[in-house]
Amino acid sequence: MIKPDGLFGNYTDEIKKVILESGFSILEEMMVQLDENYVTIFYAEHSKKSFFPRLVKYMTSGPVFVMVLEKVNAIADWRALIGPTDARKAKVTHPNSIRALCGLDSEKNCVHGSDSPQSAAREISFFFEEISSGLERDRLDARRC
Ligand code: PPS
Repeated sequence: MIKPDGLFGNYTDEIKKVILESGFSILEEMMVQLDENYVTIFYAEHSKKSFFPRLVKYMTSGPVFVMVLEKVNAIADWRALIGPTDARKAKVTHPNSIRALCGLDSEKNCVHGSDSPQSAAREISFFFEEISSGLERDRLDARRC
């Protein structure tokens, strides 16, 4: 996922280029504006953390761009490519990582990656089934009005 700071900074094309040059295929992609309810579901495991309200505010501050990436060892390779959570640290320890390129700190860190096959399955289904069908319902409702 490219987070709101990645989109505000116009990094989408550059990130997609790095993705393709790194041997990933992009199977699905979608831009979506998340609301508080969706962010709370997506980041449910962090809901008790002190930074959670900031995370919700940030993740609803603009659209996100979500992709399904395919590659052998995709999860570990993508997480290596994006670098550590804190973009300040990424700039020092992983200067060629995506977060070093376009992130700012632990909150505005530009991109997200699923951390296991289970979370990838959950997150793909969340965006490309649950949210997609909600958007389609909204489109049909709007057409009916
Ligand atoms: S933890 O506590 O180690 O489980 O958290 P971590 O894996 O480092 O981060 C989980 C996601 O929360 C975001 N995060 C923050 N948001 C706002 N403010 C602060 N201080 C902060 N710290 C961490 C972080 O970007 C992670 O998002 P994802 O999308 O999973 O990378």
